[in-house]
Amino acid sequence: MHQNKAGRELKTLVIYWSATGNTEKVAGAVQKALVREGIEPAVKKVSEAEAEELYQYDLVFLGAPSYQFLPPEPVLRFVKQKMKLHVERGDIKPCAPRVAGKTAVVFCTYSGPHTGINEVTPVGEYLGQFFEHLGFDVAARWYVVGEFHGREELSTKGRLGDIRGRPNQQDLSKVESDVSRLIKTLRSAS
Ligand SMILES: Cc1cc2nc3c(=O)[nH]c(=O)nc-3n(C[C@H](O)[C@H](O)[C@H](O)COP(=O)(O)O)c2cc1C
Repeated sequence: MHQNKAGRELKTLVIYWSATGNTEKVAGAVQKALVREGIEPAVKKVSEAEAEELYQYDLVFLGAPSYQFLPPEPVLRFVKQKMKLHVERGDIKPCAPRVAGKTAVVFCTYSGPHTGINEVTPVGEYLGQFFEHLGFDVAARWYVVGEFHGREELSTKGRLGDIRGRPNQQDLSKVESDVSRLIKTLRSAS
Protein backbone atom coordinates (compact mmCIF):
# COMPACT_ATOMS: atom_id res chain seq x y z
CA MET A 1 0.00 0.00 0.00
CA HIS A 2 1.46 3.36 -1.01
CA GLN A 3 2.04 5.82 1.80
CA ASN A 4 2.48 9.55 1.44
CA LYS A 5 5.44 11.42 2.86
CA ALA A 6 3.66 11.87 6.18
CA GLY A 7 3.68 8.07 6.45
CA ARG A 8 -0.05 7.63 5.86
CA GLU A 9 -1.84 6.13 2.93
CA LEU A 10 -4.29 8.38 1.08
CA LYS A 11 -7.50 7.08 2.63
CA THR A 12 -10.10 7.28 -0.11
CA LEU A 13 -13.88 6.94 -0.39
CA VAL A 14 -15.87 6.78 -3.63
CA ILE A 15 -19.62 7.48 -3.31
CA TYR A 16 -21.97 7.42 -6.26
CA TRP A 17 -25.61 7.18 -7.31
CA SER A 18 -26.63 5.64 -10.63
CA ALA A 19 -29.99 4.54 -12.04
CA THR A 20 -28.99 3.32 -15.52
CA GLY A 21 -25.31 2.48 -15.02
CA ASN A 22 -23.47 5.44 -16.56
CA THR A 23 -22.29 6.99 -13.31
CA GLU A 24 -21.53 3.52 -11.98
CA LYS A 25 -19.18 2.95 -14.93
CA VAL A 26 -17.36 6.18 -14.12
CA ALA A 27 -17.13 5.15 -10.45
CA GLY A 28 -15.65 1.86 -11.66
CA ALA A 29 -13.03 3.71 -13.70
CA VAL A 30 -12.17 5.87 -10.68
CA GLN A 31 -11.79 2.74 -8.55
CA LYS A 32 -9.66 0.98 -11.19
CA ALA A 33 -7.28 3.92 -11.47
CA LEU A 34 -7.01 4.27 -7.69
CA VAL A 35 -6.14 0.59 -7.33
CA ARG A 36 -3.51 1.00 -10.03
CA GLU A 37 -2.06 3.84 -7.96
CA GLY A 38 -1.85 1.55 -4.92
CA ILE A 39 -4.96 2.87 -3.17
CA GLU A 40 -7.77 0.52 -2.08
CA PRO A 41 -10.79 2.83 -1.87
CA ALA A 42 -14.02 2.18 -0.03
CA VAL A 43 -16.71 2.26 -2.76
CA LYS A 44 -20.29 2.92 -1.68
CA LYS A 45 -23.60 3.74 -3.25
CA VAL A 46 -25.24 6.83 -1.75
CA SER A 47 -27.77 4.55 0.00
CA GLU A 48 -24.90 2.76 1.76
CA ALA A 49 -22.90 5.86 2.62
CA GLU A 50 -25.11 7.62 5.14
CA ALA A 51 -23.06 6.46 8.10
CA GLU A 52 -19.72 7.29 6.50
CA GLU A 53 -17.64 9.87 8.38
CA LEU A 54 -16.32 12.01 5.53
CA TYR A 55 -13.59 13.60 7.65
CA GLN A 56 -12.10 10.14 8.20
CA TYR A 57 -10.99 10.19 4.57
CA ASP A 58 -8.26 12.22 2.91
CA LEU A 59 -9.91 11.99 -0.49
CA VAL A 60 -13.63 11.68 -1.23
CA PHE A 61 -15.17 11.22 -4.69
CA LEU A 62 -18.89 11.86 -5.13
CA GLY A 63 -20.62 10.99 -8.40
CA ALA A 64 -24.14 11.62 -9.67
CA PRO A 65 -26.04 12.11 -12.92
CA SER A 66 -27.87 15.27 -13.89
CA TYR A 67 -31.64 15.12 -13.38
CA GLN A 68 -33.25 18.30 -14.63
CA PHE A 69 -29.90 20.01 -14.19
CA LEU A 70 -29.60 19.08 -10.52
CA PRO A 71 -28.54 15.97 -8.62
CA PRO A 72 -31.31 13.34 -8.33
CA GLU A 73 -33.48 13.40 -5.20
CA PRO A 74 -31.60 10.63 -3.30
CA VAL A 75 -28.34 12.54 -3.77
CA LEU A 76 -29.94 15.81 -2.63
CA ARG A 77 -31.26 13.98 0.44
CA PHE A 78 -27.79 12.60 1.17
CA VAL A 79 -26.22 16.06 0.94
CA LYS A 80 -28.93 17.62 3.11
CA GLN A 81 -28.59 14.89 5.73
CA LYS A 82 -24.82 15.39 5.84
CA MET A 83 -25.14 19.18 5.96
CA LYS A 84 -27.55 18.91 8.90
CA LEU A 85 -25.17 16.59 10.75
CA HIS A 86 -22.16 18.82 10.19
CA VAL A 87 -24.04 22.01 11.05
CA GLU A 88 -25.10 20.39 14.33
CA ARG A 89 -21.51 19.37 15.01
CA GLY A 90 -20.24 22.88 14.32
CA ASP A 91 -18.15 21.82 11.33
CA ILE A 92 -19.69 24.41 8.99
CA LYS A 93 -17.94 27.63 9.98
CA PRO A 94 -18.06 31.21 8.70
CA CYS A 95 -15.65 31.62 5.78
CA ALA A 96 -15.50 27.81 5.42
CA PRO A 97 -11.84 27.45 6.48
CA ARG A 98 -9.91 24.70 4.71
CA VAL A 99 -9.39 21.53 6.70
CA ALA A 100 -5.81 20.47 6.03
CA GLY A 101 -5.36 17.40 3.88
CA LYS A 102 -9.01 16.98 2.87
CA THR A 103 -9.69 16.78 -0.86
CA ALA A 104 -12.87 16.08 -2.81
CA VAL A 105 -13.61 15.33 -6.45
CA VAL A 106 -17.07 15.54 -7.96
CA PHE A 107 -17.94 13.56 -11.09
CA CYS A 108 -21.21 13.94 -12.94
CA THR A 109 -22.71 12.24 -15.96
CA TYR A 110 -25.20 13.84 -18.32
CA SER A 111 -26.76 13.51 -21.73
CA GLY A 112 -27.02 17.22 -22.50
CA PRO A 113 -29.90 16.80 -24.97
CA HIS A 114 -31.17 20.37 -24.73
CA THR A 115 -28.34 22.72 -23.79
CA GLY A 116 -25.28 20.46 -23.63
CA ILE A 117 -22.81 20.78 -20.79
CA ASN A 118 -24.81 23.62 -19.20
CA GLU A 119 -27.22 20.91 -18.01
CA VAL A 120 -24.62 19.39 -15.74
CA THR A 121 -22.41 22.18 -14.47
CA PRO A 122 -25.02 23.12 -11.80
CA VAL A 123 -24.74 19.54 -10.49
CA GLY A 124 -20.97 19.85 -10.19
CA GLU A 125 -21.24 23.27 -8.58
CA TYR A 126 -23.88 22.08 -6.11
CA LEU A 127 -21.91 19.02 -5.02
CA GLY A 128 -18.71 21.05 -4.96
CA GLN A 129 -20.35 23.59 -2.63
CA PHE A 130 -21.19 20.79 -0.23
CA PHE A 131 -17.53 19.84 0.11
CA GLU A 132 -16.31 23.43 0.24
CA HIS A 133 -18.68 24.09 3.13
CA LEU A 134 -17.05 21.17 4.95
CA GLY A 135 -13.62 22.69 4.33
CA PHE A 136 -12.54 20.22 1.66
CA ASP A 137 -10.52 21.42 -1.30
CA VAL A 138 -12.52 20.56 -4.41
CA ALA A 139 -9.70 19.48 -6.69
CA ALA A 140 -11.86 18.77 -9.73
CA ARG A 141 -15.34 18.57 -11.16
CA TRP A 142 -15.51 16.04 -13.99
CA TYR A 143 -18.37 15.95 -16.47
CA VAL A 144 -18.79 12.74 -18.47
CA VAL A 145 -21.27 12.21 -21.29
CA GLY A 146 -23.69 9.31 -20.82
CA GLU A 147 -26.34 7.81 -23.09
CA PHE A 148 -29.91 8.74 -22.16
CA HIS A 149 -31.08 5.13 -21.71
CA GLY A 150 -34.59 4.47 -22.92
CA ARG A 151 -34.85 7.81 -24.76
CA GLU A 152 -33.39 7.12 -28.21
CA GLU A 153 -34.20 10.60 -29.53
CA LEU A 154 -32.37 12.26 -26.66
CA SER A 155 -29.32 10.05 -27.36
CA THR A 156 -29.22 10.78 -31.10
CA LYS A 157 -30.81 14.17 -31.81
CA GLY A 158 -29.63 16.22 -28.83
CA ARG A 159 -27.00 18.94 -28.57
CA LEU A 160 -24.23 16.35 -28.24
CA GLY A 161 -25.26 14.28 -31.27
CA ASP A 162 -25.08 10.49 -31.17
CA ILE A 163 -24.12 9.60 -27.60
CA ARG A 164 -25.25 5.96 -27.67
CA GLY A 165 -22.84 3.68 -25.82
CA ARG A 166 -21.34 6.45 -23.76
CA PRO A 167 -19.51 6.63 -21.49
CA ASN A 168 -17.35 4.58 -23.84
CA GLN A 169 -13.86 3.20 -23.33
CA GLN A 170 -12.30 6.48 -24.40
CA ASP A 171 -14.38 8.42 -21.86
CA LEU A 172 -13.45 5.97 -19.11
CA SER A 173 -9.75 5.99 -20.03
CA LYS A 174 -9.78 9.77 -19.69
CA VAL A 175 -11.29 9.43 -16.22
CA GLU A 176 -8.61 6.91 -15.30
CA SER A 177 -5.78 9.17 -16.43
CA ASP A 178 -7.35 12.16 -14.64
CA VAL A 179 -7.45 10.11 -11.42
CA SER A 180 -3.80 9.10 -11.82
CA ARG A 181 -2.76 12.70 -12.42
CA LEU A 182 -4.68 13.84 -9.34
CA ILE A 183 -3.09 11.20 -7.12
CA LYS A 184 0.39 12.15 -8.31
CA THR A 185 -0.37 15.82 -7.60
CA LEU A 186 -1.68 15.04 -4.11
CA ARG A 187 1.32 12.86 -3.34
CA SER A 188 3.80 15.44 -4.50
CA ALA A 189 2.06 18.07 -2.35
CA SER A 190 1.98 15.95 0.83
C1 LIG B 1 -35.39 11.64 -14.92
C2 LIG B 1 -34.16 12.00 -15.72
C3 LIG B 1 -33.82 13.33 -15.88
C4 LIG B 1 -32.70 13.70 -16.61
N1 LIG B 1 -32.39 15.01 -16.76
C5 LIG B 1 -31.28 15.37 -17.46
C6 LIG B 1 -30.94 16.75 -17.63
O1 LIG B 1 -31.62 17.65 -17.17
N2 LIG B 1 -29.83 17.04 -18.33
C7 LIG B 1 -29.03 16.08 -18.86
O2 LIG B 1 -28.01 16.42 -19.47
N3 LIG B 1 -29.32 14.76 -18.72
C8 LIG B 1 -30.41 14.40 -18.02
N4 LIG B 1 -30.73 13.07 -17.87
C9 LIG B 1 -29.82 12.07 -18.43
C10 LIG B 1 -28.86 11.53 -17.36
O3 LIG B 1 -28.25 12.57 -16.64
C11 LIG B 1 -27.74 10.72 -18.02
O4 LIG B 1 -28.24 9.76 -18.90
C12 LIG B 1 -26.89 10.08 -16.95
O5 LIG B 1 -25.67 9.67 -17.49
C13 LIG B 1 -27.59 8.90 -16.29
O6 LIG B 1 -26.74 8.39 -15.29
P1 LIG B 1 -26.95 6.94 -14.66
O7 LIG B 1 -26.93 5.97 -15.81
O8 LIG B 1 -25.78 6.77 -13.76
O9 LIG B 1 -28.25 6.92 -13.94
C14 LIG B 1 -31.85 12.69 -17.16
C15 LIG B 1 -32.20 11.34 -16.99
C16 LIG B 1 -33.35 11.00 -16.30
C17 LIG B 1 -33.69 9.55 -16.14
